Parts: sequence; structure tokens; C-alpha cells
Amino acid sequence: MTPPILRPIRLLGALALLLAATLCPAQRAPMDPTHTLGIESCRECHDSIVESWERTRHATSFGTMTKSEAAKAIASLAGLKPEAVTSSVSCARCHFTQETLSGALQTTTAVSCESCHGGASDWIDLHNSKSRPWPERIAQAAAHGMHHPSSVLAAAQSCYECHVIDDEQLVNQTGHPALSDGFELVSWYSGEVKHNYLVSKPGKAVKTNVEEPQGLPAARKRLLFLTGKLLHLAHSLDAIARSTDAPVDKAGKLVRLPNGRPTYAVQHALVVQQLLKEMRELQGKLSIPQYAQALALCASTPLTTGHAEDLTTTAKEIQRLAAEFAAQNDGSRFAALDAEIAKLPAHGQAKVQAAAR
Ligand code: HEC
Ligand code: HEC
Ligand code: HEC
Ligand code: HEC
Repeated sequence: MTPPILRPIRLLGALALLLAATLCPAQRAPMDPTHTLGIESCRECHDSIVESWERTRHATSFGTMTKSEAAKAIASLAGLKPEAVTSSVSCARCHFTQETLSGALQTTTAVSCESCHGGASDWIDLHNSKSRPWPERIAQAAAHGMHHPSSVLAAAQSCYECHVIDDEQLVNQTGHPALSDGFELVSWYSGEVKHNYLVSKPGKAVKTNVEEPQGLPAARKRLLFLTGKLLHLAHSLDAIARSTDAPVDKAGKLVRLPNGRPTYAVQHALVVQQLLKEMRELQGKLSIPQYAQALALCASTPLTTGHAEDLTTTAKEIQRLAAEFAAQNDGSRFAALDAEIAKLPAHGQAKVQAAAR
């Protein structure tokens, strides 16, 4: 059965889609290699976190990507030599961390601390400064490019920039995944990626490392869960906005990529449809003003290709609503979610346990 969101796409036909070409939102920018310090600069103080990171696919893909047949095939279809996968910005901006070492650009790791927390050269000496009170050092570090986890939004934002692929041609021409199937923030953070090793101790100016990762407080999980939905929606709408390829052929049939999947825009439209369904159900229980506004906006925006400008405006507004929601809430009001959140699987947990054995 054709999902309702896709029916208007069929009617639209190929021609109208070409008109949207120039209105694309910006892609995820590569990290500025002059601001990255690399993983070793974190290890001296965040040893256990670096070790836990080393077991994640974010780290291990540095070794596997270059050898992977899939990467070679994608590179070749993207017009890149296999050895350019680690250096070309079109892959490195999501897969790798680059540093300037002795004046030369080098790819040093895959997805690193700084991919998520921001290039650290300007904030490393600020973020742990014992002489500045907590709110001041956070504000200073954030002003110098740190995505500090005290802000749910800052912590979560980077996930969607990479896991919702923002390059239509990469997907439609090379068969690269369009998105991470089933990405959900709490679930995908709680498994192999989780690295909460710091605790506040009375009398200490800064937090202290502990041996075991700490559980996330329930209220924090609720906030990650609800903010994640808004961010995901904004990024998926952006993805549809950047699409210019016709999702249907001349006969009105859905175009299939060689891997059997529908095209980029259609894959994202399906995610949008699923997110809207989940958000309506959540809203029925929780009455969140920002959810009400986001749902109303989506109801009045054509959620198909060929409407780049409307979609981009809506995506920006939902991004703003996500920031507003995260800033105004501490999660305490949403205890009704706990049973649902408890059922979320920890993504990659089996691998973490296997590595620990
Ligand atoms: C010289 C020691 C030191 C180095 C080097 C260091 N950190 Fe930290 N970091 C700390 C301390 C201490 C804290 C706790 C600060 C506080 O209580 O606000 C901290 C806090 C953090 C936090 C926020 C934790 C929170 O929620 O309060 C993040 C994120 C972080 N560091 C990331 C990094 C990254 C990434 C690097 C490497 C680029 C790094 N740090 C290098 C000592 C260090
Ligand atoms: C916008 C970010 C982004 C860009 C740009 C990007 N990738 Fe990816 N790539 C990802 C993410 C996220 C995944 C994990 C997807 C998943 O969860 O299945 C991935 C997965 C892959 C995989 C594993 C695919 C599989 O079938 O399991 C390969 C290989 C790959 N990318 C190669 C490349 C190459 C080569 C380039 C450059 C031509 C590139 N990627 C550009 C984000 C990106
Ligand atoms: C700079 C881009 C980037 C950022 C930021 C990023 N990821 Fe990833 N992530 C990737 C890529 C690329 C892969 C696939 C690596 C591979 O296997 O080649 C991946 C893989 C993963 C995996 C393993 C998937 C699996 O099926 O085994 C998890 C879990 C994950 N990411 C969670 C997250 C979470 C949660 C965040 C945010 C807190 C995040 N990622 C931020 C690029 C990124
Ligand atoms: C995939 C993205 C990602 C990567 C890679 C990553 N972090 Fe984090 N980090 C996060 C997120 C998201 C949080 C906030 C989790 C939460 O809600 O408590 C966090 C939290 C932290 C904290 C605070 C944890 C606590 O105990 O409260 C520190 C310190 C930190 N990261 C340091 C690092 C260091 C050092 C590295 C590299 C070894 C690293 N991070 C790699 C996303 C990432």
C-alpha cells in the first residue's frame, strides 16, 4: 500500500521537482582541522571515557572503513579513488576527524570526542577551570565552540547532522544509506556510545572521574527522548527539502535504488510520517506546547519534494522549537514516559558486553 505522504509525490511528477534545485539547506560543515586537538589530548583526564569510546564503532570504523568493500564501491560511484575515502571532505565530514599536524592536514581518527563535543583548541583550558564558577565556565566554553552536555540540545544536535544523511546524490548515486534505520537518541546513546563517568563530589570545584559509567537520570532520559524527536523531525524535513531527484518514474512508479530501497526523499518522507505518528501519540499524553506547534506546522506544510522553501522554513522553526523545549524543561514533568523509555533497547550493548568479557 502506498503511504499517504507519498501519494502527492506521485501526482507531482518529475518536472516540478527540477524547480527546487537551488534552495538547498547547507550541509554539515566539516570540522575545522585547525581547531581539533585529537583524542590523546582528552585521554590524560578522561581516560575511562577514551577507553570506552575505543570499543565503539565510532572509533573502530577508522580501521574497517578503508578496507571495506562497501566503502570502495561507494567511493567509486562517487567518483573518488578508494584511498581518497579518508581524505575527501565528502566522506570525512561525517566519518573522520582531521587535524593539522606540523602544518599538514591529516586524518587521525574516525568519529571522535570532538566530532560530538566540538573542536577543542579554544575551550579545552576553559571547560575544567577550577577558578571559574560552574555556570561561567560552561558559558565560556560554549562561547568558544564546546557542545557542552549541560545543554541537551548541544549534546544531541551532532547525532542528527551525521545520522540523517544530508547528501542526496551520495544516496541516490552510490547506494550509501540515507539514514540510520531506527535511530532514536536514548536508545542509540545508551548502548556502546554511553560514557557517563563523571560525578560531582562535595567540596570539589570540578567533577571527578569514577570507574563505572553512571546511569542516566530518568528526567534526563525523558528530555533526550522528547528533544530527540523534534531534532529528528527537523533534520528529516531538511532532507526532503534538499531533494531534487524525481522519486517516481514516467509511469508514476516509485523509483528503486539498486539496493531495493526507494530514493533519498522517499526514505526520509517515511521517517517523517513515522515521527509524526509517534509525536501525535506522545502529545496526546503530555500536552507539550512545542509539540503542538511542530505538529500544526507540519499539517500546514506540503511534506513532499518540490516545496524546498516551505520545508526549510518549517524545519528551521522546528529546530527553534527543539531549542526552546530543551531550555524550558528539566524532564520532571514527563514521568508518564518512563515505562515506554524503559523498553528502549540499548543500541550496540551486546558488543560492549562482549568486549568487556
Ligand atoms: C586537564 C584535564 C582535562 C582535559 C585535558 C580534558 N578535560 Fe574534559 N573535563 C575535565 C574536568 C575536570 C571536567 C569536569 C568539569 C566540571 O565539573 O565542570 C571535564 C568536563 C568535560 C565535559 C563536560 C562534562 C559535564 O557534563 O559536566 C566534556 C564534554 C569534556 N570534559 C570533554 C573533553 C574533551 C572532548 C577533551 C579533549 C579534547 C577534554 N575534555 C579534555 C578535565 C579535562
Ligand atoms: C552526512 C554524513 C555522511 C557522509 C557525507 C558520508 N557518510 Fe557514510 N555513513 C554515515 C552514517 C551515519 C553511516 C551509518 C549508517 C547506518 O547506521 O547504517 C554511514 C555508513 C557508511 C558505510 C557503511 C554502509 C553499509 O552499507 O553498512 C560506508 C561504507 C560509508 N558510510 C561510506 C561512505 C563514503 C565512502 C562516503 C563518501 C563518499 C560517505 N560514507 C559519506 C554518514 C555519512
Ligand atoms: C561526525 C558524524 C557522527 C556523529 C556526530 C555521530 N555519529 Fe554515530 N555514527 C557515525 C558513523 C559514520 C557511523 C557508522 C560507522 C561505521 O560503522 O562505519 C556511526 C555509528 C553509530 C553507532 C553504531 C551503529 C551500529 O549499528 O552499530 C551508534 C550507536 C551511533 N553511531 C550513535 C550515535 C549517537 C547517539 C550520536 C550522538 C550522540 C552519534 N552517533 C553521533 C557518525 C556519527
Ligand atoms: C557520538 C557523540 C559523542 C562522542 C564520540 C563522544 N561524546 Fe562525550 N557525550 C556525548 C553526549 C550526547 C553526552 C551527554 C550524555 C548525557 O545526556 O548525559 C556526552 C557526555 C560527555 C561527558 C559528560 C559525562 C558525564 O559523566 O556526565 C564527558 C566528560 C564527555 N562526554 C567526554 C567525551 C570524551 C573525552 C570523548 C572521546 C573519548 C567523548 N566524550 C566522545 C556525545 C559524544
